[in-house]
Amino acid sequence: MTRPVLGVRLTGWGAYAPSLVLTNADLEKMVETNDEWIVSRTGIRERRIAGPDETTASMAAVAGLRAIATAGLAPDDIDLILVGTLTADYPMPSAAALVKSAIGNKRAAAMDLAAACSGFLFGYATAYAYIMSGFAKHVLVIGAETLSRATDWTDRGTCILFGDGAGAAVLSASEEPGGTLGVHLTTEPSGAYFIWLPAGGAARPANAATLEAREHFMKMKGSETFRMAVRTLGSTATAAVQKAGWTLDEVDLVIPHQANIRIIEGLAKALDFPMDRVFVNVQCYGNTSAASVPLALAEAVDAGRVKPGDKILLVAFGAGLTSAAIAFEWTGDPAEAARAAGIGHEQVSIAPGYLDAINPFPPDLEWVRARQSSPAVEPA
Ligand SMILES: CC(C)(COP(=O)(O)OP(=O)(O)OC[C@H]1O[C@@H](n2cnc3c(N)ncnc32)[C@H](O)[C@@H]1OP(=O)(O)O)[C@@H](O)C(=O)NCCC(=O)NCCS
Repeated sequence: MTRPVLGVRLTGWGAYAPSLVLTNADLEKMVETNDEWIVSRTGIRERRIAGPDETTASMAAVAGLRAIATAGLAPDDIDLILVGTLTADYPMPSAAALVKSAIGNKRAAAMDLAAACSGFLFGYATAYAYIMSGFAKHVLVIGAETLSRATDWTDRGTCILFGDGAGAAVLSASEEPGGTLGVHLTTEPSGAYFIWLPAGGAARPANAATLEAREHFMKMKGSETFRMAVRTLGSTATAAVQKAGWTLDEVDLVIPHQANIRIIEGLAKALDFPMDRVFVNVQCYGNTSAASVPLALAEAVDAGRVKPGDKILLVAFGAGLTSAAIAFEWTGDPAEAARAAGIGHEQVSIAPGYLDAINPFPPDLEWVRARQSSPAVEPA
């Protein structure tokens, strides 16, 4: 007789960042901005941009394969694939279905989750519920974005912020209690139009007028979003820590959504939590939306910032306005990262002819694209 599931553990982790680097100096050539302004207002120095042969699903597949490898599993051990994204390759099929094909899984159910920058953590919470209910034993949760294709490269208020990438985790059923202890999700629709993408959906299908008005790119009210982000991240983080039965002092590492260093510092201040126990890599990637937390998590492991038994707090905020926090004990062996070495250096193929349908690179970036080197590299 199978023993009951008593816990959900993070058993695998992985990330993928495209090799093309877009620096603040590059942006100075595209819009009226400068490195000093960008660094002082956001902390961002560079971001990664997907190459013409890369998509959300292809990056997600590489991060996913790396997470499956660190978990010591095979692709077919996965029962459910969840992809948090706001830049799926197509409205349909889901990015998750394409990931399933690319990683060679024959058994999993696969679906996308739309919670913007909180997408990976909403996926984590969904995986938690599916595992605790006995529906799935191993769930692959991915956050992946190709924001460069939803960014208005003529809008200096937004184009300095965003980047592309993917991160993933495997969550597994455990017969021991522990692992994931605090899960908290919120949605506050009064801010639904603070960050949004007006055209291309059912309300405003893309047409010549929407293209002319550049409504198929992300729009944002920066300062409203900023204030709401700091306030909401603090309350969501606190709720997850309380649900875990911890105090904030006990948390070894906070891994927040990497939107802006000032938002992260505002969160630390609001919680009275020391910045040396907050993981930050926004300077290298900018805001990669749903990819940001799992990408930071994988880098934190690689940087030796987590060890078995550590109390970790993940917290994110995004369009919706959504917010999510997960408090969990680290149970993986960081040395397992070696298993993923080498995965993804070959292009992961999605489906024959599939790449033909990709939008051309933004024309403003043609000159940057010419500098691109391949194959893709590991996150720095
Ligand atoms: C976007 C953001 C960096 C702007 O910073 P800010 O301090 O709020 O700046 P403001 O929008 O008030 O703009 C200040 C000035 O800088 C200018 N400015 C805006 N973008 C600029 C840029 N890239 N370079 C130079 N100047 C810029 C503005 O036009 C404005 O000029 P003005 O005073 O002459 O009108 C900030 O609001 C932010 O990070 N918001 C949250 C965004 C976010 O994280 N979204 C995703 C959440 S998941």
